[in-house]
Amino acid sequence: DYQVPHVFVVGGASGDLAKKKIYPTLWGLYKDQLIPKQTFFVGYARSKFSILELREKVEPFFKVGPNENEVLEEFWKMNSYVAGSYDKGPDFQTLDSHIRGLSCKAHRIIYLALPPTVYQSITKNIHDYCMAPKECWTRIIVEKPFGHDSQSSAELSKHLSGLFVENQLYRIDHYLGKEMVQNLVIQRFGNRMFAPLWNRDNIASVVISFKEPFGTFGRGGYFDTFGIIRDVMQNHLLQMLSLIAMEKPVSLNAEDIRNEKVKVLKCIKPIEITEVVLGQYMGDPNGPNEDSRTGYLDDPGVSKDSVTPTFATAVLFVKNERWDGVPFILRCGKALNERKAEVRVQLKDVSGDIFTRGQLARNELVIRVQPDEAVYMKIMGKKPGNSFDCEETELDLTYASRYAGVKLPDAYERLILDVFLGSQIHFVRSDELAEAWRIFTPLLHKIDKERIKPVKYTFGSRGPKESDDLLKKYNFTYTGTY
Ligand code: BG6
Repeated sequence: DYQVPHVFVVGGASGDLAKKKIYPTLWGLYKDQLIPKQTFFVGYARSKFSILELREKVEPFFKVGPNENEVLEEFWKMNSYVAGSYDKGPDFQTLDSHIRGLSCKAHRIIYLALPPTVYQSITKNIHDYCMAPKECWTRIIVEKPFGHDSQSSAELSKHLSGLFVENQLYRIDHYLGKEMVQNLVIQRFGNRMFAPLWNRDNIASVVISFKEPFGTFGRGGYFDTFGIIRDVMQNHLLQMLSLIAMEKPVSLNAEDIRNEKVKVLKCIKPIEITEVVLGQYMGDPNGPNEDSRTGYLDDPGVSKDSVTPTFATAVLFVKNERWDGVPFILRCGKALNERKAEVRVQLKDVSGDIFTRGQLARNELVIRVQPDEAVYMKIMGKKPGNSFDCEETELDLTYASRYAGVKLPDAYERLILDVFLGSQIHFVRSDELAEAWRIFTPLLHKIDKERIKPVKYTFGSRGPKESDDLLKKYNFTYTGTY
């Protein structure tokens, strides 16, 4: 289909996501010739911009090589901008005639980089006025948040399914575009080695962590209405969990994979508050910079008595034959000591241990999503030399050394390319989303209704001590940093 012209509409072109992610990604895909040459990019937002003003705003985020100025000019020749509201039909008629002016027979991709408050009206207007002609397709990319609990998400899903069919809807969870997250399926199902171990008989616990060293400053207004559970745990972390825990799909077809993800989510009971630790960061008076001295409640966008968590640890159980009793511990937080996202699969102790007590550490498979992508296995070995002692060591597949010089595409780059190609493997299906909300909604409602107080932790720390205690309660043994 690459011969047919394509039109890519960026809804919310004046916003932060468009500036930092979408336009730089479109530029990257265009210059690497991964998308059709005849792709027209149309920015759409309320602000009255000229294309030059848009260019000035977004281009500083582009990576432009020394010989790429010519292709950069070409890229901008394919760009245009239309100003309009999100709720008035005639504005979308204007957008549609603008698109037809570029090409009357083009496939259309419409990216909604917009706040959820305008989703309903914009999607209705797209459906009524902005669809591609019959012989071409229209695909809509939707950004989270997809609602804020089961009910609001179901309403949004109902609204969208009244307008579009599922294979027109691409719900982005950008963690599904990350190299190491995509690798999970291949590692699990492409290796004989892991399959026999992948169950409750051998695995003691699975810890999925997401840590960021910066706070929410500047984003406090948005963040305060969502909190860390809705922001990353209910989506990014749960997605990783479902890829770790799902059964083998019949094929790599998007529906087969998503069927298995839904099945495993259905086996998870809603989270109990007793299995959760919530935290909120305070500024560190001795911090090295302004940000680290600023606590969550110091953000002007956040109310002084906010109880919104910026850190959370939660324990989930998958009630099926493979996983019954194995804790899946999801842990995420802002303003911590480091940036890291990783999965730790910790195996049970060796049975019939013949070594001096305490010498054997548990085997662990670690998938480091970022930074420094790696898969490594912590194993025991003989301490090299004359002694006959045991020592913990690692089988280490660090991508920077094993694949030195190989460029790992950014998550948005892969995912937007998938939309051009029509592949939904790495996008969230509506039933998957409903299950994710089912697991978290009772907990979220309880937190909101009872205004459950998070534990305070200091900017730059490892988070609340209570979280480590929860991990210990589930018999997770500390080996190195986690
Ligand atoms: C987003 C969250 O979905 O993911 C942010 O809204 C978070 O709060 C971001 O910072 C993390 O993404 P990445 O790719 O930088 O790990």
